[in-house]
Amino acid sequence: MSLDGRTAMASGESQWITSVAARHDVHRLRARSSAIVTGIGTVLADDPSLTARLEQDVEVVQPMRVVLDSQLRMPTTARMLSQPGRTLILTVNADAAKAAALQAAGAEVRLLDSHSGRVDLEQVLALLAEEQLNELLLEAGPTLNGALLQAGLVDELVLYMAPHLMGDGARGLMTLPGVEKMADRVELQIVDMRSVGRDWRMTCRLQH
Ligand SMILES: NC(=O)c1ccc[n+]([C@@H]2O[C@H](COP(=O)([O-])OP(=O)(O)OC[C@H]3O[C@@H](n4cnc5c(N)ncnc54)[C@H](OP(=O)(O)O)[C@@H]3O)[C@@H](O)[C@H]2O)c1
Repeated sequence: MSLDGRTAMASGESQWITSVAARHDVHRLRARSSAIVTGIGTVLADDPSLTARLEQDVEVVQPMRVVLDSQLRMPTTARMLSQPGRTLILTVNADAAKAAALQAAGAEVRLLDSHSGRVDLEQVLALLAEEQLNELLLEAGPTLNGALLQAGLVDELVLYMAPHLMGDGARGLMTLPGVEKMADRVELQIVDMRSVGRDWRMTCRLQH
């Protein structure tokens, strides 16, 4: 994010906010994670690979990529589907033809029970725990970041801050509906802060 907490321009453009050094650091975080979770909004806006690519030429066991995509909007041409490692799409849409097309393109598709018309976040984490995926890295846009945080399912934030301002027309870090009074604020404890190239990395724990 920028120093004013912005993660994309209003158009959705977000590449690149942080420097190469910070992005390498993110790849190390990815490499130590069991899975990288993202929302369909990020896939449609950025078409990310979501692989771990280290500077040193070392072989990485690729973390599983998990896309929360209630309506199966994932394109069969999405870049991550042709990358090494598994891509799991979690959905509540029972359209068998769409699921088959995504499976043919390399994805695994799991149909979850639908309560609200959206993928249920508690159910997602229970399913990933059953798969023995115990360290999840969420790399999503403000919608899913905020939803997981408000559901009490985030332990830690790792924020990379680039020394520039993107203005209040740009998109924020988290959508947090219902936070209106000072008493509603989300409390964090900063446990680490260090420079990474020209950027700063701040690690914060949630006060559950
Ligand atoms: N700067 C950065 O580090 C960074 C990182 C990632 C993304 N971004 C930017 O973020 C923007 C995209 O943000 P976004 O908010 O649209 O995308 P997002 O948070 O990645 O994905 C949001 C989508 O996730 C799906 N979803 C499934 N289950 C959900 C649930 N239980 N609760 C909430 N959402 C759920 C929803 O679509 P369905 O209802 O269809 O499932 C929702 O619209 C892009 O501009 C991208 O560049 C920036």
